[in-house]
Amino acid sequence: MQASEAEKPRIVILISGNGSNMQAIAEAVHNKEIDAEIAGIISNRPLAEGLTKAQAMGLHTDIIDHTLYASRDEFDHALIRMIEDLKPDLVVLAGFMRILTADFTRYFEGNLLNIHPSLLPKYQGLNTHQRALDAGDSEHGVTVHFVTEELDGGPNAIQAILPILDIDNAKALQQRIQVQEHIIYPIAVKWFCEGRLSMEGQHAFLDGQELPASGVQLRS
Ligand code: GRF
Repeated sequence: MQASEAEKPRIVILISGNGSNMQAIAEAVHNKEIDAEIAGIISNRPLAEGLTKAQAMGLHTDIIDHTLYASRDEFDHALIRMIEDLKPDLVVLAGFMRILTADFTRYFEGNLLNIHPSLLPKYQGLNTHQRALDAGDSEHGVTVHFVTEELDGGPNAIQAILPILDIDNAKALQQRIQVQEHIIYPIAVKWFCEGRLSMEGQHAFLDGQELPASGVQLRS
């Protein structure tokens, strides 16, 4: 990683699909709400819609097709090299649908954020909205967290919490949660770029204070 003092922090965003979180962060940078530079967008899927969105915003894009690599290790090492070429200060996973090896997560640890559509540590993995409904939960949400070796397990930075309504289904919940994603991810990236948010010893800190396990909670 490059510690760039005089220059703006450089952000690399990894996507696999729609790229709406990538877009929300890139727009916040474009609107100067985040004082940073988008160094590039990398997709492991050549036809990801997010690539079109990134190109429409004039952003640098790269493709690294995981199907062309013989193993997860080879892919992750090639991905590390591709990211490093962009000299990032922060790597943002935004709907990047690949499980990353420990080599990768250790390499970027402390400088690697992810967004996960549940109130972590609840519902790691997939189908989070349906699982929250099936469990009869009264609340659901989305979490931005630092990435460690444990899948969806690193320290939380910020969560948005929503009530689950009687009429909710997974689709409705997912749509309300995405609105929140586009609010909290730019906030976390802004905090990081301002040097306010950090990870030390498997804990997240904001303004020098250790955050609770939930991270900062925004309730609506
Ligand atoms: C989001 O729901 C995020 O929580 C999950 O993947 C989805 C990505 O959506 N990790 P998008 O590609 O940013 O629109």
